[in-house]
Amino acid sequence: MFDDLKGLSILVTGSSTGIGAAAAKAYAEYGAKVAVHGSANKERAEALVSDIKSSGGEAVLVMGDLLKRGVVEKVVAEAADALGGLDVLVNNAGSLVRREALDTIDDDLYDAVCDLNVRAVINACRAAAPFLRNSKSGSIINTGSIAGHNGGAVGAGLYAGAKAFVHSWTRTMAIELGPDGIRVNCVSPGTILTPFHERFSTPEKLENVRRMIHLGRLGTPEDCVGAYLFLASPKASGFITGQVIEVNGGQYFK
Ligand SMILES: NC(=O)c1ccc[n+]([C@@H]2O[C@H](COP(=O)([O-])OP(=O)(O)OC[C@H]3O[C@@H](n4cnc5c(N)ncnc54)[C@H](OP(=O)(O)O)[C@@H]3O)[C@@H](O)[C@H]2O)c1
Repeated sequence: MFDDLKGLSILVTGSSTGIGAAAAKAYAEYGAKVAVHGSANKERAEALVSDIKSSGGEAVLVMGDLLKRGVVEKVVAEAADALGGLDVLVNNAGSLVRREALDTIDDDLYDAVCDLNVRAVINACRAAAPFLRNSKSGSIINTGSIAGHNGGAVGAGLYAGAKAFVHSWTRTMAIELGPDGIRVNCVSPGTILTPFHERFSTPEKLENVRRMIHLGRLGTPEDCVGAYLFLASPKASGFITGQVIEVNGGQYFK
């Protein structure tokens, strides 16, 4: 089904761990050339690149802290240079940064959440667009969130708003880049067990969420992989653009 991924050049931002790492690994398993990106977890990003290479796949490492201005543009340029172009950009790097309710939100938190989850996505799209226009399979896949639909929980308001922006930006870019043959879609994960929740959620909170999930369990990064493969493959999803695909076990229906 996904054999047309073979030979495509794909950058997955935030692929040192979690959902991005699972997607990058899967793309490489289908024969894509993958740029693995991370920031704090260099060792895990390097390990993933080695893992892909030792399984016969192609991968390069591009590091960079997307909170810093100008870095995402460098990450895109380095990835395109190393892979010989870019067919698919996966804007996956993201974080809640920290949980703060209304009274304790400050400008530094606003800047961090928006710089990472919003500005880096916008600037990555702009940096990648010339490469994607040169591709016959150009596509952008953004990682949104269930929080972008339901507002998240107390303390996650900035993050939820940033992810709602990502959903909206997906539609705007689908309109703007459609005439260039570039599809733009979004994967919106529910509650997925990754380092994200080790940092931001307690076991009790996760158990309360699990009870609200119709499939009766929390998600894994591997549960998200199919959506990323599907949206990158022109054969599977060549007439699909501007869509937000929910991967949440039934935690939220539109
Ligand atoms: N897990 C969930 O339940 C869930 C639900 C909805 C949406 N999401 C979204 O899914 C995406 C992946 O999250 P995950 O759950 O897989 O969490 P994760 O394992 O913590 O992965 C986050 C990725 O983003 C990268 N990243 C974070 N801050 C960065 C920065 N300042 N500069 C560059 N890269 C940075 C991390 O790289 P380093 O660690 O190397 O810095 C890592 O590769 C995020 O956009 C997240 O918001 C997750």
